[in-house]
Amino acid sequence: MSNEQKVAVVTGASQGIGAGIVQAYRDQGYAVVANSRNIQPSSDAGVIAVPGNVGDRAVAEQVIKTAVERFGRVNTLINNAGIFIGKPFTDYTVEDFNNVINVNVAGFFHVTQFAIAQMLKQGHGHIVQITTALVDQPIAGVPTGLATLTKGGLDAVTRGLAIEYAKSGIRVNAIAPGIIRTPMHAPETHDFLKGLHPVGRLGEVSEIVDAVLYLEHAGFVTGETLNVDGGQHAGRW
Ligand SMILES: NC(=O)c1ccc[n+]([C@@H]2O[C@H](COP(=O)([O-])OP(=O)(O)OC[C@H]3O[C@@H](n4cnc5c(N)ncnc54)[C@H](OP(=O)(O)O)[C@@H]3O)[C@@H](O)[C@H]2O)c1
Repeated sequence: MSNEQKVAVVTGASQGIGAGIVQAYRDQGYAVVANSRNIQPSSDAGVIAVPGNVGDRAVAEQVIKTAVERFGRVNTLINNAGIFIGKPFTDYTVEDFNNVINVNVAGFFHVTQFAIAQMLKQGHGHIVQITTALVDQPIAGVPTGLATLTKGGLDAVTRGLAIEYAKSGIRVNAIAPGIIRTPMHAPETHDFLKGLHPVGRLGEVSEIVDAVLYLEHAGFVTGETLNVDGGQHAGRW
């Protein structure tokens, strides 16, 4: 086992936080299977791209199958794919609801089922969800009902699966970011968004990556949600 190359699967890997996580695992010597709808083949032989909507069960199955067929195992799954639609609750359309459920919830469910089945065969594994600080600390004037509905579920199931699989050698954790400088947020919104953090600035992708790597190496940590949010979870400011 110790001489085998480790393998990470990252969803939502084409840009932003996901792309940063892919690079971090490559820097640690892992092989990576990278998924997003429009992800392009990599020039790096250690990164295999599997394009498609991770909310589609067949795509999720292909993602995990590719990791096993090409690299032999799945050490870590990072459930990073996610979309955000911020609106007053009564303005959400059924299409908004279906889209957010598809990516944030179905996109977690299918790929995590296939990953855990593989991890049970191996006797070890690690799964991390990228949630949001809004789960525990909604912000007045920033309506985010579909984000808290879906990411709140991921936060809860993180602890549920951590307990369910604790004796099977599978750790399950989450990271709850504040607002991170990625293509998700147009530059003209940054000044407003900075003010939504006690520390008065946006987070950087590298700061989420640091948390992912901490959890990766933290063998005694499971069922944890790590807040990486410039103090948002701590209270009012
Ligand atoms: N940035 C923030 O402030 C922030 C804060 C809290 C939580 N988060 C969470 O962090 C995660 C990453 O956010 P980000 O800011 O890096 O977002 P981003 O820049 O918008 O990137 C989202 C990624 O997800 C992929 N994606 C979207 N729909 C997908 C689908 N159906 N199947 C597979 N991949 C899909 C996108 O690629 P394609 O277009 O190619 O599919 C892209 O690679 C998300 O879960 C988000 O909710 C972000």
